Amino acid sequence: MSIEQAIERRNARIENLRKECAPIFDISKNITFEIGCGKGHYLSAYAAAMPQETCVGIDLISERVRDGIRRAKNKNAPNAFFVKAEALEFLEAMPQDARLDKIFIFFPDPWPKAKHHKRRLMQEEFLNYLRQFAKAGTKLYFRTDFTEYFDWTKEVIQNNSNWELTDETELLLEEVSQFQRILPEFSTLIAKAV
Ligand SMILES: C[S@@+](CC[C@H](N)C(=O)[O-])C[C@H]1O[C@@H](n2cnc3c(N)ncnc32)[C@H](O)[C@@H]1O
Repeated sequence: MSIEQAIERRNARIENLRKECAPIFDISKNITFEIGCGKGHYLSAYAAAMPQETCVGIDLISERVRDGIRRAKNKNAPNAFFVKAEALEFLEAMPQDARLDKIFIFFPDPWPKAKHHKRRLMQEEFLNYLRQFAKAGTKLYFRTDFTEYFDWTKEVIQNNSNWELTDETELLLEEVSQFQRILPEFSTLIAKAV
């Protein structure tokens, strides 16, 4: 595939996301957002407990997104939406006046090999981009079992003037996600948009 074709496909995906997500943003421009939501264990439980919030979970894998939709229905959480999307593409598809109120990133792929670190989600550029869609005070809740990725993320945030580490470690709601069930030893950090 040529670069032009790849860009064309990406633009088409973003356009489709704009259409697909328009009804969500019609409900609210203030979004509780989970990146890499997997099968939606966390967000569907969270949305059921917080019916006043509009919650959107995205994941790259269609089957997981379908599971999330099913789970939200079973939990009677009509305020939970699950969308197949890549994080940067979803952000680009958001209406300009929409904002992320809370951001959850739990057990993201750790990419343990040094040569793959560049694939990690928690990078300076990503955090800077994410900040553009957040509000001052928006909290980013991050959890991983992988100590080296935890330390890496802490350092990336400490060196980023758009985000500030808090000393909080408690989630607003505890619910065991699919990966947390397999990986019961983990650490949590919470950062705040400056
Ligand atoms: C290890 S799983 C964790 C799933 C879930 N958070 C949990 O705790 O069970 C990481 C998930 O992130 C998704 N993912 C990875 N990179 C992503 C990206 N750039 N945008 C959206 N989802 C992504 C993967 O498809 C995968 O389902």
